[in-house]
Amino acid sequence: MSRLAHRTALITGSTSGIGRAIAERFAAEGATVLVTGRRADLGAEVVAGITTAGGRARYLPVDLTAGREAIEEFAARAGDVDVLVNNAAYLVGGRPTFDTPEDVVDAALATNIKAPYLLTAALAPKMQARGSGAIVNIGSINALTGMAGSALYSATKAALHALTAAWAAEFGPYGIRVNTIAPGPTDVEWSTSIRPHLERIVATVPSRRLSSPAEVAAAAVFLASDEASHIQGATLPVDGGLTTVTAHGASRPVS
Ligand SMILES: NC(=O)c1ccc[n+]([C@@H]2O[C@H](COP(=O)([O-])OP(=O)(O)OC[C@H]3O[C@@H](n4cnc5c(N)ncnc54)[C@H](OP(=O)(O)O)[C@@H]3O)[C@@H](O)[C@H]2O)c1
Repeated sequence: MSRLAHRTALITGSTSGIGRAIAERFAAEGATVLVTGRRADLGAEVVAGITTAGGRARYLPVDLTAGREAIEEFAARAGDVDVLVNNAAYLVGGRPTFDTPEDVVDAALATNIKAPYLLTAALAPKMQARGSGAIVNIGSINALTGMAGSALYSATKAALHALTAAWAAEFGPYGIRVNTIAPGPTDVEWSTSIRPHLERIVATVPSRRLSSPAEVAAAAVFLASDEASHIQGATLPVDGGLTTVTAHGASRPVS
């Protein structure tokens, strides 16, 4: 399908994981994709995969914590962007609140809140001038439910969910749609490091499995495309029902 034909899409954090899957899927849907992140070798690999498959992509290196000037320069290099996916994040978890160093707090706030805020501020005016655009924020079910050891990460994701609502109100009248995807635990490269923890969570998911990056990417295509033309300020969980169904409800066998 070509649901994103004639669109340029910038996906932050598309050198790996969910962002990479979104970049590959957007390209398959006809978008010209701007692949971003700090790891140039992986950026080149993602672009090569997309172009070999017949798609269009280029890699733009960026450290999103480098401050306003660097982000504005990055946005200028990106040019006209029709779809922005704020996906990059500093993933911190499994840490007691009393044992979280200040530099970790600063990195989480800088990557997960300040960076999408400044990048959106840099790109939205051009969308506004054109009268169209779509912003998809990659939040988390951690913003919706409490999870021990995840206070800092969850708070940053809740901020992104709040930005979605505020930006829907601010940019909606100018033809820009802003929505959030809240993935549940998703099977990415780093998941192997917490496999036993994930297996305990999976037992409480109605689907009895993790989300896949491709499933999150499919939701992102939908929200970025005209098929979602009147969906504004929404949060779409991609979690197999984890946030809707209690562990108690998911565990009872019915036959
Ligand atoms: N995996 C899950 O279970 C899960 C569940 C819910 C929500 N999420 C959300 O999904 C998104 C993607 O996570 P993931 O699991 O796919 O993790 P991942 O593979 O570690 O991807 C994170 C991406 O962010 C980029 N990034 C991090 N810091 C950056 C910085 N300072 N500047 C530029 N890029 C930076 C990384 O690129 P470089 O290292 O190349 O810079 C990488 O491409 C995140 O927003 C996360 O909160 C994930």
